[in-house]
Amino acid sequence: MRHKKHTGLSDDDELKAYHNNMFNNWGFSGNPYYSNELIKEELLTTLFVGRRKERRKFISTLNSGIGAVCIEGKDFGIGKSTFFNRVALEVEKVREDFIVAKKIDFVSSTSPRDLLLDIMHRMVEAVERPGVVPKDVRNEVHKITQIRGVEKGREISVSLPSILRGSRHKSETQKERENITTGIIGSKILEIDRKVFDKAGKRFLISIENLESSKIRSESIKEGIESLRDLTFLNSLYFFIGDLGLRRTLSESGRLRSLAGNSIVIPPLNLHEFQNAVNIRLDHFSIKNKKKIEPIFPLDDDVVKYIHLKSKGDIRWAFNFLHRIFQGMVDDGHSVRVHNLADVEIIMVERAKETYEGLTRPLQKIIRGISRCGPSGPSSSSLIKETGFKTSYLNRNLNSEKIKSSPEILKRSREDRKAIYSLGYEMEMLKEYKII
Ligand SMILES: Nc1ncnc2c1ncn2[C@@H]1O[C@H](COP(=O)(O)OP(=O)(O)OP(=O)(O)O)[C@@H](O)[C@H]1O
Ligand SMILES: [Mg+2]
Repeated sequence: MRHKKHTGLSDDDELKAYHNNMFNNWGFSGNPYYSNELIKEELLTTLFVGRRKERRKFISTLNSGIGAVCIEGKDFGIGKSTFFNRVALEVEKVREDFIVAKKIDFVSSTSPRDLLLDIMHRMVEAVERPGVVPKDVRNEVHKITQIRGVEKGREISVSLPSILRGSRHKSETQKERENITTGIIGSKILEIDRKVFDKAGKRFLISIENLESSKIRSESIKEGIESLRDLTFLNSLYFFIGDLGLRRTLSESGRLRSLAGNSIVIPPLNLHEFQNAVNIRLDHFSIKNKKKIEPIFPLDDDVVKYIHLKSKGDIRWAFNFLHRIFQGMVDDGHSVRVHNLADVEIIMVERAKETYEGLTRPLQKIIRGISRCGPSGPSSSSLIKETGFKTSYLNRNLNSEKIKSSPEILKRSREDRKAIYSLGYEMEMLKEYKII
């Protein structure tokens, strides 16, 4: 999780009690800006804002008979996953004709076969939930997942899920796993899809998350994507969740032709929607008592506006940063009243400085370089001159997972196939306040 605050104090409980008490003074049960992952039903239904148009589009795709849809968003933290969580919950509640399978998280090391195994696994898991399909259908699905194996020279029947769970002896499991080809898994998925649709009248809703185009471009995953082509012409409905351009990447050279034209683009929440999201959170975390004391909203609209502007739509960061500002106010014993931008400027800069100071010396130097030269890449002569670092050294420092996933530090984009880095939200703030 990003921005987790480490207090370094051993007496955590005491500190927590102290903090809660401080929040209580403000009329809240906890830090109201906390960037909750909206997964649980209660938070998803109460804290979720906007996306009416996208929700309508989602519902129409459910009814259109299309096999695969992309959910795309330009940036980190814009709300793609949350959008999907919200609509999937709706489907689970009101659509008898769908079975919502648990999301699949796509990582760079996912092989084509792993991808198909995951899909099959999620389908089996979903039909195992009570009340999802009649018992006889569940049994038939189990039968489909049985495959023949050889043990001590004898032919036996083993169940795919048990192999997946690795519940059998390790070396055997390994051997059996190797024998299961993508072709075999693909045909099992087809059978399950058909059986559940024919016998229970239900379609699976399968979702694959974190599909960044850059991951898909790698040669190894192409085969997996290709094998999905046959699957997406079936009853199940696939959602691919990733960055902008995902649909284009997936449908390149006809790999997933069924995707043509089908994507739901998630735009950034506009200022009004973001303010609304903030206010709903403040209300949700306010202590509701009989005396009806109105909570003090700690930060005024200008602060919220400033953070929204800086975040460029990354509301995960925006909430995290508001959270850190308010925490700082509580830590410093600020008085209980509404604070404006001038009141919290120092705290904001301090928070951004913490991020900067947590970086290695070379990275700090590179950031100062980018601050002076403007957006640049490892082979930009101005950045090389400014830092005194060679391209290879710049590359080594910039190519870390941390940098790739911390848009508050540096934002990465591509120009003519080359990576270009510009200052992230918090570093931009440091530049604005002339710290770097
Ligand atoms: N519609 C919304 N209403 C209220 N809060 C939201 C909404 N969408 C997102 N959020 C908040 O923003 C956070 C980030 O959203 P989310 O994780 O969906 O972004 P994402 O686009 O999937 O990010 P990533 O690119 O990192 O996968 C959520 O944890 C949630 O707190
Ligand atoms: Mg996400």
